[in-house]
Amino acid sequence: MTAPDNLIDGRALAAQIQGELTERIAALKARGVQPGLAFVRVGEDPASRVYVGRKEKTSAALGILSETHVLPETIAEAELLALLARLNADPRLHGILVQAPLPRQIRQEVVYATVAPEKDVDGFHPMNVGKLMLGDPTGFKPCTPAGILELLKRAQVKTDGAEVVVLGRGNIVGKPMAAMLCQKARGANATVTICHSATRDIPAHCRRADILIVAMGVAEFVKADMVRPGAVVIDVGVNRVPDATAKSGSRLVGDVAFAAVQPLAGRITPNPGGVGPMTIAMLMQNTVRAAEQAIAR
Ligand code: GUN
Repeated sequence: MTAPDNLIDGRALAAQIQGELTERIAALKARGVQPGLAFVRVGEDPASRVYVGRKEKTSAALGILSETHVLPETIAEAELLALLARLNADPRLHGILVQAPLPRQIRQEVVYATVAPEKDVDGFHPMNVGKLMLGDPTGFKPCTPAGILELLKRAQVKTDGAEVVVLGRGNIVGKPMAAMLCQKARGANATVTICHSATRDIPAHCRRADILIVAMGVAEFVKADMVRPGAVVIDVGVNRVPDATAKSGSRLVGDVAFAAVQPLAGRITPNPGGVGPMTIAMLMQNTVRAAEQAIAR
């Protein structure tokens, strides 16, 4: 039994969202404002280089001004905070993104609390995290879970009353994803279970899920026997695994054993081409909103 057309095309949905943003960007430009976004990358983590590169490219394609600050791996926390103070004060910039992970000498929570909440297009500042928990729509929501919610909405996957199981409790995806899905709101209203490293029987939880969202960072963790036939499967993972047949000696896989799970899933995100493009689209959307709010102030 194969289900060839059950893919949720994140690239196409992201392109749709970006198309909608071009009108808002044109309206801002007509008022003399170009949305501006600063990227801060610390060190040379290969994955972070790729991610920031993609975000820069999408910004340029949409006509969003972007600038990237690359700091050495050994940078002192105080220097990074000083840079953030300058970026906070720069009226050309409406959004600031400090790419995670950060080196050990830097306290991530201090960094994210230093980004001005109104420029925190990553949604990592405690003020925005608090607004998310409260269901206050004036905050910025983290881009990956926001992208997943938007992807479910645009793919017409019903979340109201659904059993959603989230694998992973990280601050970037798992925790905010669960908070968003359990809100009393249209496009949310789900019954959410978060599984993590101390969960006793993860497969049993997974098999109950109408929607299974996997963000744990373990290559091909979710196998076919963990998925209820017909379930919607969202794969957030990006894992590099050795592959002797590949020119580079490695390849990227998700957290879901895709070939085995796709035939029985109701809908499933490809990986790549599922969640990743939606994350970038949400970053662009948050930046445009930050610019709109800046001129409304
Ligand atoms: N690292 C992995 N995902 C993200 C993200 O959404 N934002 C930032 N800043 N860093 C990340």
